[in-house]
Amino acid sequence: MNYSIITYGCQMNVHESEKIAGILKEKGYERESPLEEADIIVFNTCCIRENAENHAFGNIGALKKLKREKKNLIIAVGGCMAQEEGKAELLRKKFPFIDIVFGTHNLCEFGELIERKRARRKAVVSLLPERGETEDHIEPVRRSYPNAWVNITYGCNNFCSYCIVPYVRGRERSRRAEDILREVRTLLEEGYKEITLLGQNVNSYNSDGQGGMSFPELLDAVAGMGGKYRVRFMTSHPKDFSEELARVMKARENVCNLLHLPAQSGNDRILSLMNRRYTREKYLAEIAMLRGYIPDCPVTTDLIVGFPTETEEEFEDTLSLVREAKFASAFTFVYSPRTGTKAAAMEGQISEDVSKERIMRLVEQVNENTRALSATFVGKTTEILCEDFDEKKGLYLGRNEGGRMGYFESERNVIGEFVNLKVERANGISLYGKLV
Ligand code: SAH
Ligand code: SF4
Ligand code: F3S
Repeated sequence: MNYSIITYGCQMNVHESEKIAGILKEKGYERESPLEEADIIVFNTCCIRENAENHAFGNIGALKKLKREKKNLIIAVGGCMAQEEGKAELLRKKFPFIDIVFGTHNLCEFGELIERKRARRKAVVSLLPERGETEDHIEPVRRSYPNAWVNITYGCNNFCSYCIVPYVRGRERSRRAEDILREVRTLLEEGYKEITLLGQNVNSYNSDGQGGMSFPELLDAVAGMGGKYRVRFMTSHPKDFSEELARVMKARENVCNLLHLPAQSGNDRILSLMNRRYTREKYLAEIAMLRGYIPDCPVTTDLIVGFPTETEEEFEDTLSLVREAKFASAFTFVYSPRTGTKAAAMEGQISEDVSKERIMRLVEQVNENTRALSATFVGKTTEILCEDFDEKKGLYLGRNEGGRMGYFESERNVIGEFVNLKVERANGISLYGKLV
């Protein structure tokens, strides 16, 4: 039988979709297929911003006809949006043809839900309260060789005032270090070449005492298994970034010299309203500390414009932060009010026009940084882990340790190999050149 999974949202969700594929495989769905040929279609949703939700709503709605023509097709909706308060009911009201709704706390149960659906005609909805689980015992069907994602924490305790994640993912739980290390060892034996450790705030790993070691210790152990491979991690929260971590990044050759450190804003009043618990000064001091250990270490970030009450001057502090911190690249977002969060109830919501104008200026500044850094690679050689072949371009591609995307020709298939790229030209975060 065939399956399709449509994934929205962050890397965490991309990996969760690999677990969903694992569950589907166990239930006899062996082949991934286009929507029209699928026996089951799973939407793994996100609710971080309104447009993520609208996107999913649109795509689910578009299946009405297919479902009418194909009575045995099962349509399942899971993930963060499904877990959101009241959304399961709304989904079923809007789209009565949905067969299964499951939340983020139901992943292990998804297989059972499929069987229940097969046994009866009625739709099944199962939104469990949080159960504090840290091990899901699901064998993922990994789809991103040579990269492998490994969860180290689930949930989040930070309650940034704009963010819905703590409400839909529950409290932060750390997996036991020995389970993580076992998983990594197996992945390396299977030939994976890049391990990315995943958590909403990796620096607070073991805050519940369940991990058994600190994040820098864990990172050191993950990186110390011998052989050639890379280690990445995301996301780091500036309030918990430590010198110990910078030391491990420097000491371990295979921990990529790249830090994703979401700043959100460059203004202290807004940072405080966001409940981020650091100042611009502390943020910049952390980057300086890191670059003391690793000169010019690339730092990437997430930025939000149009947070309630943000003034023009406060927005300009974000612009100047982009220059001052010399970000290697950045994800930029227009603030989106999320029901139930503190910020959504604040006075002084910013108009769409103002936010749009601000994001355009921010994107321009970020692009300037991106171009400037990419240009420094031209004429130099950089090591790339080849990940894929781009059919349209007719070129192989992969990233260097700092996350620049390298494109090149090759006579033989080099996916999964480390290669050296002599860069001839750059475009955005992409580098083009020849293998040497
Ligand atoms: N845990 C990570 C990121 C989680 S979500 C962290 O704390 O850094 C990824 C990004 O989405 C956030 O960094 C933030 O920039 C953005 N984001 C989250 N909620 C948002 C909202 N309500 N509106 C706009 N952007 C938001
Ligand atoms: Fe959301 Fe903040 Fe947690 Fe990140 S740290 S997931 S932005 S609450
Ligand atoms: Fe990720 Fe979206 Fe959920 S960003 S944690 S999938 S709300």
